[in-house]
Amino acid sequence: MAKYPKVNYIGNKEKLVDWLIEEMPVKEGRVLDIFAGGCSVSYALKVHGYSVISNDILYADYVIAKALIENEDKTLTLSVFEKKTDESRVRELAAKFSFLSERLYYPEEVEELAGLAAVAEKLEGSERYLFLALMRRAMIRKLPYSRMNVPWNQIQKLRDEDYSYEKYKRKRAYHNQSFESHMRENFEEYNRAVFKGKECRAYCLDAFDMAQRIDHVDVVYMDPPYPSTMNNYDSFYGLFDEMFDRKRQHTDYTRKESFLDNMDRLIGRLADKTGYVVLSQNTRVRPNPEEVEAMLSKYGKVEIKRKKYNYQVTGKENKNGSKELLFILKIGK
Ligand SMILES: C[S@@+](CC[C@H](N)C(=O)[O-])C[C@H]1O[C@@H](n2cnc3c(N)ncnc32)[C@H](O)[C@@H]1O
Repeated sequence: MAKYPKVNYIGNKEKLVDWLIEEMPVKEGRVLDIFAGGCSVSYALKVHGYSVISNDILYADYVIAKALIENEDKTLTLSVFEKKTDESRVRELAAKFSFLSERLYYPEEVEELAGLAAVAEKLEGSERYLFLALMRRAMIRKLPYSRMNVPWNQIQKLRDEDYSYEKYKRKRAYHNQSFESHMRENFEEYNRAVFKGKECRAYCLDAFDMAQRIDHVDVVYMDPPYPSTMNNYDSFYGLFDEMFDRKRQHTDYTRKESFLDNMDRLIGRLADKTGYVVLSQNTRVRPNPEEVEAMLSKYGKVEIKRKKYNYQVTGKENKNGSKELLFILKIGK
């Protein structure tokens, strides 16, 4: 059976997908995953026979959706690493990516990235996206804390294997492997994750624009970046977007003052285009569930599902055991 590969996405729902699928209010049809992120939910929906529209504002996430959700049959062979690239283009890309030098990676690593990006340019369609999805995962794997907003002096420190061993009893040598070696390690897993399901599509739009774009779906699934959690996805992954000139302004769902209003406007825009809105929330975050329920109730009948979920923070169990919630809004009174 098709298996979701290693994506390393902060705040992903990978451990909850079976429960989410069980709670889906329709058992077939079209689902829009409007804040798709690393696509763990989109992928599970595709596996379970739904036709999925996967959307996220970040290009770093769009490449995953194109590679694993929309893609039906295109895989890569290892000979891709031998593709002839134009030297002057590699130099151009290295200059373009120099903003990453001594910010995320050492200068020679940025050059390696340029070579890989030049290979990507030689590929077309889904193959290119599969390659870019592997590249993204390699970039993240090389970074301490798996995100792009750790200061360079910290990165250097944590990439020092002796220091890391002394302090954390782990060398974390994988931070010092080449990008290509990471891509090769994940190559078959990504290839195997490609399969043909019902028709699926990927978009890279602000959620409001996505809502405007669709005609009709059965369910809109929402996993927005709530205020008061690790939520700054632009800073976690946005430098990937910058490499490919895809950085864009968008509605900000991370602010306490405007979160509910923005959600309210978004659901208002979707109300005549979907039968259901299914919204994920966790009891750790704000606004509180009562406020969310009150806002949703304007649009129809709301049911709340609860799942106990011990959130793992650096391997330690959170004793308070926060709860995962799912609001199921059936549109219409
Ligand atoms: C909590 S994450 C989704 C995680 C996802 N469910 C998974 O399993 O990987 C929220 C996502 O919302 C995206 N996002 C933030 N603002 C957005 C906007 N205005 N329009 C579309 N997507 C947005 C972020 O880039 C981030 O990927």
